[in-house]
Amino acid sequence: MTAVGIDAIEIWTGNLKLDLPGTFAPEKGEDPEKYTKGLGLTASSFPDSYEDIVTMAANAAHRLMERKGLEPEDIGRIDVATESAFDNSKPVSTYVAGCLETVYDGDFHHANKGERKFACIAGTQSLDDAYNWIRAGRNRGRGALVIATDTALYARGDAGEATQGAGAVAMYIAEDPDLVELSAEQGYGSADETDFLKPNQQFPSVDGKRSVQVYLARMREALEDYESVAGDVHPDDIVFAPFHTPFPGMVRKAAMLAYRHITRDTAIEDELAEEIGRQPRPEAFDTDDAYRDALREYMDALKGTARYQEWYDATIDPTLTLSREVGNWYTGSVHVARVSALKTALEAGRDLTGEQLLVGSYGSGAQAEIHAETIQDGWEDEIAALNVDEQLANRYDMSWDDYEEIHDAHNHDMDVDVEEFTTPSEEFVFDGWGRMGERKYRYVE
Ligand code: COA
Repeated sequence: MTAVGIDAIEIWTGNLKLDLPGTFAPEKGEDPEKYTKGLGLTASSFPDSYEDIVTMAANAAHRLMERKGLEPEDIGRIDVATESAFDNSKPVSTYVAGCLETVYDGDFHHANKGERKFACIAGTQSLDDAYNWIRAGRNRGRGALVIATDTALYARGDAGEATQGAGAVAMYIAEDPDLVELSAEQGYGSADETDFLKPNQQFPSVDGKRSVQVYLARMREALEDYESVAGDVHPDDIVFAPFHTPFPGMVRKAAMLAYRHITRDTAIEDELAEEIGRQPRPEAFDTDDAYRDALREYMDALKGTARYQEWYDATIDPTLTLSREVGNWYTGSVHVARVSALKTALEAGRDLTGEQLLVGSYGSGAQAEIHAETIQDGWEDEIAALNVDEQLANRYDMSWDDYEEIHDAHNHDMDVDVEEFTTPSEEFVFDGWGRMGERKYRYVE
């Protein structure tokens, strides 16, 4: 069977930066370590006044197409995943195609376009759609452009304000991919939950503490479902585990649970038992509370073992390096985590061809999905071609006043015009409104 997966990936960050420990925490009267140590964040990316989900998506896609030498006729689908859409009918992918058509001779008239919505998991669902379309043989030799783009802004004063972010990830899904092959096997954990939603409103209604619990519960279900089709996962089988990263502290919690799960009934559990005992089993306890207390005790002890720490440092920590600098990109976040891990490995000169990633996506509302990816032999060239470090370094570092202004400028309920903080160059920009309320864009040389 021909391999199908991600052939290329590009990241586009919002052009502004908010320093969380340096600028945000002092204004909130909070300890900067809540950000650096607790949430695991040092900065968030923000869109400048001329940026939005369309410009970031089109800019990521344009970079990707240029780098891979792709023309519009090579693309048979454009799917945009977002939870920041501004139109209930016309999909963001049509705007993105419109932008790209201004800089290419060809057009996307024979490409199927759509928009995927399921909170942060929609980007991964779009990968699925592309995979299935190619596997079904309906792609006519073409690939799919999948773009995850979001401006993850919360209402001022909401607890989520600490975990904002803005950026886009564009991926080209094709046969014989250069970066990773996607596994046919996947597992789901899905339930009707009310942890985070936007009922026809721009900023989310969020029960932050509950969303953390729901993330963990659905992820665990997805892992069990994945193992029921792919067999048990063992730590030795995985080089990295990129998870959805609303903030790195969330992944720290998920990683502990995952490690406990994948080491149960293995030689690793036996070896750890000498130091911290075996994992508690529910059947050994009279009440749920007693079992839960024992679990908490085991997890606290596990966290302190050198064995767990080594696994975390090798398998999880490298997935978080970019997220620490950009915050939550919602649909793009798990795809940023994959890039972080591969980029760290490239910088360390590692050979990863043939190694496996275990990818855990999550969307509030709620659904988790787990699948595996096999790293392909073109991965080094693909990751080396990214200019994400340069993009991050070039962001304009906002003062508190700048931040307040730009948050208002992006608030759909406010009519605020703000001078741009950065000067756009070789990118698509927002260019005002059309007569039917549509957004207009242009390319700036
Ligand atoms: N030094 C070190 N750690 C500190 C600290 C300090 N000075 N102050 C706080 N912390 C830790 C807390 O202990 C906590 O870690 P823990 O959960 O492991 O205990 C973490 O930093 C966050 O602090 P907390 O007081 O819980 O923050 P909060 O009340 O602002 O809420 C969220 C945090 C995540 C709930 C909130 O940002 C939110 O609602 N985010 C949006 C929803 C979201 O992203 N959900 C994730 C699932 S998709």
